[in-house]
Amino acid sequence: MALPTFSLDNQVVLITGAGSGIGAGIARGLGAFKAAVGCLDQSEDGAFETASAITAAGGRAVALTGDVRDESSMSDAVARLEREFGPLNGALNCAGVHDTSPAEAMTRAQWQRLIDINLTGVFISSQAEGRALIRNGGGSIVNIGSISAHIANRGLSQSHYNAAKAGVAHLSRSLALEWAQQNVRVNIISPGYTATPMAKSPEVWGQVKHLIDDIPLGRMCEIDELVGPAVFLLSDAATYCTGLDLVVDGGAIRW
Ligand SMILES: NC(=O)c1ccc[n+]([C@@H]2O[C@H](COP(=O)([O-])OP(=O)(O)OC[C@H]3O[C@@H](n4cnc5c(N)ncnc54)[C@H](O)[C@@H]3O)[C@@H](O)[C@H]2O)c1
Repeated sequence: MALPTFSLDNQVVLITGAGSGIGAGIARGLGAFKAAVGCLDQSEDGAFETASAITAAGGRAVALTGDVRDESSMSDAVARLEREFGPLNGALNCAGVHDTSPAEAMTRAQWQRLIDINLTGVFISSQAEGRALIRNGGGSIVNIGSISAHIANRGLSQSHYNAAKAGVAHLSRSLALEWAQQNVRVNIISPGYTATPMAKSPEVWGQVKHLIDDIPLGRMCEIDELVGPAVFLLSDAATYCTGLDLVVDGGAIRW
């Protein structure tokens, strides 16, 4: 029997939202697993900081500044990464924003900005990555969703965010089916409440701290606890997984 390999040795992987929080943590984790990592963020400083941390630890990384809403920005980033390290093998789309507003007070601009980044941005990123992976004979895309695709969080007025995350989940399943014959797998990681700048922002933290008591494991997710699920889905240990939604939430939505 051939044992599964979780190795990412020589895999070239693009990560969006790599300048902070979950994306930065997963990027560092993939670097430690020997992937060559393209660290993309709209924050030049953030992308640079994460790429520098990976190279300082002996890994391979390049900082890429880009906006997931912009098609040429994403195709340029893929091309730059491939020039640096060779053909793309995988991608993890983590860039996202958050805010809250009661639905009756939400402006069209507020709704549109969040949908543009958190949903359309995942499509534009996946499209640029998918084109390269199809050309390269296959690969793995992981989209960061959320438990907010499954539940409407108690006490948090974020209808745009919840709708975007539900969209990411079904978009990912759709791409998984469209690209299965081209050997491109597309899966979702749906984190629960994770200790990042986004979750610690005052408007979210005020409510999330009350929700923690309801998590069966009794605490928030640490960023590093998302590295294992990402390595699994990007590696050859997951060659038969596509269209999967891996919920990593300490049991929060199992009650
Ligand atoms: N923190 C949580 O509790 C939690 C839970 C579930 C899902 N998520 C999701 O995880 C992802 C990362 O969240 P986080 O908590 O690490 O947030 P974060 O704010 O720490 O990081 C988000 C990163 O995305 C980047 N970004 C934003 N808009 C961009 C754009 N248009 N183009 C390129 N980069 C852009 C930001 O500059 C930032 O570096 C998001 O998609 C979020 O919805 C977070």
